[in-house]
Amino acid sequence: MSYSQRFNAVKDELEWLYMELYGNRDMLNSLEDFMERADSERKEELKALDEKRLANRRWYLSESMVAETMYTNLFAGTFNGIADKVSYLKELGVTYLHLMPFLRTPQKDNDGGFAVSDFLTPDERLGTVEDIISLADTLRKNGISLCMDFVMNHTSDEHEWAMKAKSGEKWAQDMYMTFPDRTIPDEFEKTMPEVFPETAPGNFVYSEEMGRWVLSTFYPKQWDLNYQNPAVFNAIASAMVIWANRGVEVFRLDAVPYIWKEIGTSCRNLPKVHTIVRMIRLILEAVAPAAILKGEVVMEPKELAAYFGTKEKPECHLLYGVSSMVNIWGALASEDTRLLKCQTEDLLSLPEHSAFVNYVRCHDDIGWGFDENKERELGIDPLLHKIYQYRFWAGDFPSSYARGGLYNYDEKTKDARTVGTTASLVGLESAETEEEIDDAVKRFRLIYSTVFAMKGLPLINSGDEIGMLNDRGYMNDPDRKEDSRYLHRPAFDWEKEKRKKTAGTIENRLFSIIKELEGIRSSSTLFSPDAEVFTWDSHNDKVFAIRRRQGEKVLLSVFNYSHEKQSARFEYFTGLYRDMLTGITAEPGRSIDLDGYQVMFLANYLQADRNLCL
Ligand code: GLC
Repeated sequence: MSYSQRFNAVKDELEWLYMELYGNRDMLNSLEDFMERADSERKEELKALDEKRLANRRWYLSESMVAETMYTNLFAGTFNGIADKVSYLKELGVTYLHLMPFLRTPQKDNDGGFAVSDFLTPDERLGTVEDIISLADTLRKNGISLCMDFVMNHTSDEHEWAMKAKSGEKWAQDMYMTFPDRTIPDEFEKTMPEVFPETAPGNFVYSEEMGRWVLSTFYPKQWDLNYQNPAVFNAIASAMVIWANRGVEVFRLDAVPYIWKEIGTSCRNLPKVHTIVRMIRLILEAVAPAAILKGEVVMEPKELAAYFGTKEKPECHLLYGVSSMVNIWGALASEDTRLLKCQTEDLLSLPEHSAFVNYVRCHDDIGWGFDENKERELGIDPLLHKIYQYRFWAGDFPSSYARGGLYNYDEKTKDARTVGTTASLVGLESAETEEEIDDAVKRFRLIYSTVFAMKGLPLINSGDEIGMLNDRGYMNDPDRKEDSRYLHRPAFDWEKEKRKKTAGTIENRLFSIIKELEGIRSSSTLFSPDAEVFTWDSHNDKVFAIRRRQGEKVLLSVFNYSHEKQSARFEYFTGLYRDMLTGITAEPGRSIDLDGYQVMFLANYLQADRNLCL
């Protein structure tokens, strides 16, 4: 398909949306001219990839896809360092690599790279533009798609636009939302919640140099961009196209719900956010159809559907399964899977083209956003439950094996979020005996299995596969000590990695679990995007189950979230099944017994030849 065919397919809608939002024909023309030039500059190799992706549009959901997320510097120092470690990524089975923000950023106080000073130039400490292009090429040749963290809501206050704004240039001030006094900021504050109430209260910062207030939803040094200005939209959309031409295949749209602001609203999830995301999708579909969008939407399930758009007018290809993540940890602490089941059902009831990246840990905290109505319905007190969760994961109770910490504890509301690496949370940091290590490994298997069984793309947080523990070093660094999320951002330990080769080590056991789960996924078309996925009642609140079906084939994944033995029974499951992990035969329709934290992947037998149905 040629560029002009693709452009013609999106032209009318793009024009309609752009003119409705901006009413500026000149700016639209200049964007369209840029798109045409970008097409002529797109290299043949990427154009070939475009064709390949167009022939298999849901490639990112195939059963062989496995994602990993990492900071470049923590994993291998530089882009070239990552390129040298590609064999490790392949050994782990990664096919999608999400690099945390890698663009130029202030040396200090940069929110882990989420304060961008230049949308086109990488952080010089990580490498050059040529280095990242070469890394993207190397990854692609090895079957790994590069995902770029694209911070589109704000820039650092050292970005050229911010610097010019400070020196009084009006066009540059218009790239942000700036105000001469508190009148409008105070109006906004009436309805705008805070993202970091503890570490960055308020949504505006006063710039002495400019003598104006600037909207800054996140940290004061992150100035929100003004998407009401078409110059902002054109600059951001063009930067994405340029990165797509440099080989980026997935864009993580950082904090996308926040990009549009209006007085009298929460300034989150507003309808115009969707106009903008849809326009970005149309632009990429025309110039770089291989590229896809992954939205970082840390919102309740009911807010999520809108970010997928409709089947005819889709927006994001993928969203983060944030509520699954929260509910997995919640179920593990309380040994009660009812909320996990309800919210999985909520996500599964979203339109069919919805797709999630499922994960247990990432670079951020675990924010205890349970479905409060559902909690009340189940007789759970939302505030007490939240307090129980963050205290449990901080290791506050004698019974708790976890060694996490708190993030943004708010004395007024008693709200707090949780930090810590997977290994430290599941008990590998506190474990002293073989039995405690075994239990921690079982918990690791349980939660990672849940993630691999869910509908969507499983994501590994770099370091989880070898059991990286918390790093308390950030507490001695004045630049990082206020942000406890650094607790779970340790540098990847390559000495520890070597131990994974020795059978029986923790590293070996965890790495093997991931490999085993990948083996299960890739061995069966039941993990392909067109299999039907449902939750299933286990007749036991401690046991969570997901059923996949494709024609006659059925797979029942069963997870015992209790440390004790449990039994479960699954109605409408007739005949014999076999556990893909142990090979043991079971009859889920009658009753099955599970050991503490046990996981089963039960596949049915074909009636005719009694072969496993995979
Ligand atoms: C996203 C990131 C988070 C960052 C924030 C501001 O939520 O995941 O780490 O602090 O955006 O950019």
